[in-house]
Amino acid sequence: MAVTKDGTNLDTLIGRLVIDQGLATPEEVKHCLTLTRAENDSAPKESETLSNSLAQVLVHKEFVTKRQIARLREAIEAERSGASITGYRILGKLGAGAMATVYKAKQISLDRMVAIKKLPKKFSQNPQFIERFFAEGRAAASLNHPNIVQAFDVGNEGDMYFFVMEYVEGRSIHEDIVTHKRFKEADAIDIAIQVAEALEHAHQRGLIHRDVKPKNIMITKEGVVKLADMGLARAMSDVETAEAEAGRAFGTPYYISPEQIRGEKDIGPPADIYSLGVTLYHMVTGSVPFEGKNPSSVMHKHLKNELIPPDHVNPKLGAGISEVIEMMMAKKVKDRYQNCTDLLIDLRAIKKGETPPIAHQDVFEGDDLVALAAQAEASVTEIPEDTSQGPNALMNHLLWPPFMIVVLLLLISILIIIVQ
Ligand SMILES: Nc1ncnc2c1ncn2[C@@H]1O[C@H](COP(=O)(O)OP(=O)(O)O)[C@@H](O)[C@H]1O
Ligand SMILES: [Mg+2]
Repeated sequence: MAVTKDGTNLDTLIGRLVIDQGLATPEEVKHCLTLTRAENDSAPKESETLSNSLAQVLVHKEFVTKRQIARLREAIEAERSGASITGYRILGKLGAGAMATVYKAKQISLDRMVAIKKLPKKFSQNPQFIERFFAEGRAAASLNHPNIVQAFDVGNEGDMYFFVMEYVEGRSIHEDIVTHKRFKEADAIDIAIQVAEALEHAHQRGLIHRDVKPKNIMITKEGVVKLADMGLARAMSDVETAEAEAGRAFGTPYYISPEQIRGEKDIGPPADIYSLGVTLYHMVTGSVPFEGKNPSSVMHKHLKNELIPPDHVNPKLGAGISEVIEMMMAKKVKDRYQNCTDLLIDLRAIKKGETPPIAHQDVFEGDDLVALAAQAEASVTEIPEDTSQGPNALMNHLLWPPFMIVVLLLLISILIIIVQ
């Protein structure tokens, strides 16, 4: 059977991708190619059962599985549909979020695996977005932490903008929540500690994540937690990001902080701490704290509804983790952990089975005491003012010392007159 021109191209592409991904050596691919050619030329006995495409020979010889071939086909389609980026070879699609599509690719110059996030073309029409995209990309690239998905490059090919980052071979927390529902308390604490360490590093360098959620927390095969999308959320407004996920089962509005919902400009570390708190709540209780029919009803609940304590949803939880989550998820920024250094003190304490010192602190300690003292002082000075205006005013005047002395002298004089 003659091989069509297209068929030959497909074989070449498949062969190249199989080698790139380390599924087979160049020699093995060459051998399989000769088998397809041999069959195509004269159908020798040896390859009677083989079909005429390289993919089928590779599957038959057990170099690759059918699933791997299916993924390679996706990669080829991506390349043919114009998804290619100079300097990178697209190897397949890793997934798609509300905003973008992520591809697995090989950076040709450095011969390394990367993940490339391509943003929808509509963003390129907004100059403000482009400016923020590059600024945040640069900021993210300046970070270097084992728990942060390393940003490598930002760029554009015409009106297509992309973000190149470390490729993480593993899964996201979101996948684990879907399959296992609940995490063991100790595992959840370990993950939260690693994310808090990543955030502490970013916050200390002035970068706020703004979109901490289970889908952005990945775990490698070795169990290392990697926070993804650092520096990407800033390019869009928070509510815009949240609304883009409308209708999705695990959308951003489940994890967004009250101040981001209110559209406040000054978003600081406590916003990420709130979102990590919601993520932790979801991990240990198996459900998000606030659910609703649509994003706006979920967001309304973040602003107004009281939180059902995590240990009421899952009575097996320790009191410590519940206290920590409640403090992370305080609606008022001032009632939350102000930074990840404080949060880590409590997370590390509950990891050891101890009481979280900050969440648990007595009202008479630390800042609270100062606040309480100020309050007490204010109320002390308030009382005389109030009573002088009220029904007790006359009594106050009557008890005034000089007045009392005059009255007393008067009484003594009257007494002396009477006695005489
Ligand atoms: N650096 C990466 N390495 C491997 N896979 C990734 C990486 N970044 C993202 N992905 C995958 O691509 C999917 C889509 O990512 P994204 O567009 O950020 O959407 P979301 O965060 O909402 O899931 C993710 O769910 C994840 O499976
Ligand atoms: Mg993401």
